[in-house]
Order: sequence, then C-alpha cells, then structure tokens
Amino acid sequence: MKQRAFSLFGSLALVNFPYETIKKDKIKFANEILKNNQTVKTVLEKLGKFKGRLRKQQTNFLAGIKTKEVLYKENGCTFRFNIDETYFSPRLSNERNEIAKLVKKNEEVLVSFAGVGPFSIVIAKNSHVKKVYSNELNRMANKYAQENIIRNKLQEKVEIISGDFKKVAKKLVEHRKKFDVIVMPRPQLKDSFLSEALSLSKKGTRVYYYDFCKMEEVKSKVKMVEKIAEKNKKKIKILRVKHAGEIAPFKVRIRIDFEVRN
Ligand SMILES: C[S@@+](CC[C@H](N)C(=O)[O-])C[C@H]1O[C@@H](n2cnc3c(N)ncnc32)[C@H](O)[C@@H]1O
Repeated sequence: MKQRAFSLFGSLALVNFPYETIKKDKIKFANEILKNNQTVKTVLEKLGKFKGRLRKQQTNFLAGIKTKEVLYKENGCTFRFNIDETYFSPRLSNERNEIAKLVKKNEEVLVSFAGVGPFSIVIAKNSHVKKVYSNELNRMANKYAQENIIRNKLQEKVEIISGDFKKVAKKLVEHRKKFDVIVMPRPQLKDSFLSEALSLSKKGTRVYYYDFCKMEEVKSKVKMVEKIAEKNKKKIKILRVKHAGEIAPFKVRIRIDFEVRN
C-alpha cells in the first residue's frame, strides 16, 4: 500500500484514505504508523469533512489505544479535547503565535469562535494581555476550554462566555462592553458576524478577521468588510491582508486585519 500522509495531534494520528481503500489495508497501514512512530499511540481514520455550525468531524478507530481524546502541545500551552466533539486545527498554530505577539500590554481581547480555547490560551500565555474573553457555542468545546484554562494556569486571565456570538454580542452591548482587540477565527459558514464584532469595537480596536475564498476573490472579501463597516457607520483602516493557509486546491484561508477609527 502506498505511503499516505497523516495529521498528528499529539499521540494521535489521523489518516485520510481514498474512498476505495479496504478495511484490511487501512488497519495494516495504521499498524505501520504505530510501529514507525513511537510517539503515536492511537490511529484514527478521518470520515468526511467538518460539518455543521459546530464544525464537527467524524473519525473511525483503527489501531492502538482506543480513545478519541487528544493531548496536544503548541506555543508553550497544552490542550485536551475530543477530536469528534470539538474543532481543532494544528495548522493555525503559527496564526495563534502571531496574534499573541500583536496583543499589547493591558489590552482586553475578545476571541469569538474560540473552540477548546487555543487562540485565547496562547494569547493569554504569550502576551501581557489584561484579560481574554473566549466565546464559543459548542458546550462540549467550552467544557474542554475550561479544563484547558486550568491546565495552563490561566484562570485569572481567560474567561469563557458560552453561547451564540450574536446573542452574546447583544448582551455585551447592553453592558456597554468594548474590546481593544477582537479575534475572529470564523467557521467556514456564510455569516461574517462582522456587524456583531463592530458593535463591540471602539476607536482604536483592532479586528483580526478570518475568511475563506478562492485566490481571485481576496479583493472582493476586503470590499465586503469595508461595506459592512460602512453600513454600521464605522470607519476602518485595513492594516493587512494575509494568506493564512491553503484549505483546498485554489482555496485559501485569509486574515484581514483592520483598525476601527471611530
Ligand atoms: C473554525 S472553528 C475555530 C476553532 C478554534 N478557534 C481553533 O482555532 O481551533 C469555529 C468554531 O466556531 C464555533 N461556532 C460556530 N458558530 C458559532 C456562533 N454562532 N457563536 C459562537 N461560536 C460558534 C464552532 O463550534 C467552532 O468551534
């Protein structure tokens, strides 16, 4: 059987097989991974793509220790999560490190779509932030996020705000809460959630907004951000547009950094 690439989540390897692969070959390959990689203790097969609002994926156990829980380390932080119940992308590790470096001393940060807390925790651990508010809809992800905050000893620095970002933003607006920095590692869904983010901004707020598009659509995404700001009577300055990784052939994740000017 041909050597296949696999993703590593700590001691867990996740393999994506072509549709026609038979079970016997999958198990043989899984056992080869275990034999050749001493740190790998569990091999799972990836079934399909991330689905739905909560961006969950399905996996199938193939070999090793039977678990779907991962212990994963990056940027000096440790995370535990269930690979089927929560979204996590190791590919965003450089993004998390970069954003942490952009946060200034004593700033208050909101991370929406925070999952099991990787952006929130990496920022809190690697910057002089005053506080990070970590918003996520998936209850299971919030349960792991809370454990991960404790695991990384950041109880004083990170607070979870559970629920739909739209409803959470409304409540925060009622309490007149504004943030210095808003990080939006959005799921690949239609809604931009930018009006909600802008409602929590003040003069000087920096927004780090993630989106997905074809290479030739990057300019129109920036225009869309500018239009939504205009609709919300906010003046913005685009600071940077960054390709933050390829997610499919000719399809990229982009990050649009902008500052709110009023
Ligand atoms: C692309 S994932 C990002 C996860 C995480 N930031 C990371 O780096 O691994 C998007 C997350 O947004 C959450 N989500 C989807 N819709 C939401 C909403 N309306 N409000 C809050 N979170 C939402 C999903 O459950 C998912 O965990």
